[in-house]
Amino acid sequence: MAANTFAHITGWGMSVPEKVLTNDEISEMVDTNDEWIRERTGIHQRHIAGPEDTSASLGGEAAIAALRVAKLHPNDVDLIIGATSSPEYIFPATACIIQDKIGAVNAGAFDLSAACTGFIFAVIMAAQAIQSGSIRNAVVIGAETLSRFVDWTDRNTCILFGDGAGAFVLQASHEQGGVLSSVMRSDGSGGDSLIIPGGGSAIPTSQQTIQEGQHFIQMNGREVYRFATRVMAKAANEAIDKAQLTIDDIKLIIPHQANKRIIEAAARGLKLPMERIVVNVHNYGNTSTASIPIATCEAIEDGRLNKGDQIVFVGFGGGLTWGALTATWTGPLTDEPRRLHITRYRRLARLRSFMRRLWRRLEGIIWGRKGSP
Ligand code: UT7
Repeated sequence: MAANTFAHITGWGMSVPEKVLTNDEISEMVDTNDEWIRERTGIHQRHIAGPEDTSASLGGEAAIAALRVAKLHPNDVDLIIGATSSPEYIFPATACIIQDKIGAVNAGAFDLSAACTGFIFAVIMAAQAIQSGSIRNAVVIGAETLSRFVDWTDRNTCILFGDGAGAFVLQASHEQGGVLSSVMRSDGSGGDSLIIPGGGSAIPTSQQTIQEGQHFIQMNGREVYRFATRVMAKAANEAIDKAQLTIDDIKLIIPHQANKRIIEAAARGLKLPMERIVVNVHNYGNTSTASIPIATCEAIEDGRLNKGDQIVFVGFGGGLTWGALTATWTGPLTDEPRRLHITRYRRLARLRSFMRRLWRRLEGIIWGRKGSP
């Protein structure tokens, strides 16, 4: 670790599609009803991607919003980690598409796949890269369009998921604080309880896989529920212990928003009143990697999270994976008004992207004529 380098969370942003899908609307599609969904999950509605929305478009908007809060120019970003369970492609990484969109010309970019725990793992990875001294500024994004992977005839899953994105900026500083401790765990033996089986190298896409709906999310809800209620409080407590804090020091817990009952079980496990836990699953459903940063943005908006507060992020998901981290909340490192001209810069980024594509084509033609080098 570089001497006394701390990784602070200095910016945050979110973006959700405009379209809202209510429980009543879903009950016109499958055999379910608003009462059952609210009672068993706490979900009232979710946002669903329109034809123009993709994981990268939502993720890019969230990243830009986070950079504005941090007053950090895209040029100064060293690393972009995109946590997503609904990437634009198997490759290239969604993070690279976002890098191009926002014009972060000096950043390395890659995706991290750990299902709904992805955002926590990505923040931990970015924080460790900063603490080691190898980078100074990172953008971590959780971005999802899971509605494109949901079987809208399967009432077990289609009621749960929503689309959206959230992002954090992490920055190096010698001031004490930021990410304090982390816990990362996995248990691959439970991988088949939450899976998209088709379309990978194990079961390549074929007419048969499509007929069988293997390109959709398949879930053993009860098994995931049992696992989640087992690990959430334990992981949070472990992260709190590692940071040499006690639960009384923690102002707020921001958990993955999958199901209100799972969050309530975690609160009981932690012996915490629900006032100290952020819940917004009713408005968004389960947005997988985006749920924690979206919940964070709303907690800040509501004045529940302020500079100096000790907080815990905790999550679980497919893999199986689970994890937690504690942090001292920071906010922007600078109070100085700094005009970033991001809108103008984004236009420039689009132009730069276009020119690079054009240049690549020209190079292809030139080399094509000359033969391979
Ligand atoms: O990020 C991680 C992603 N996944 C999760 O977090 C999922 C975790 N699991 C859950 O949240 C819950 O297990 C569910 C919300 C998915 C299901 O709730 P549950 O209380 O575990 O219900 P269940 O699966 O035990 O099903 C109870 C009954 C069943 O009927 P029978 O067999 O008792 O007659 C289901 O067929 O409810 C039925 N059911 C439904 N009824 C109305 C299942 N889905 C629905 C539905 N509407 N949408």
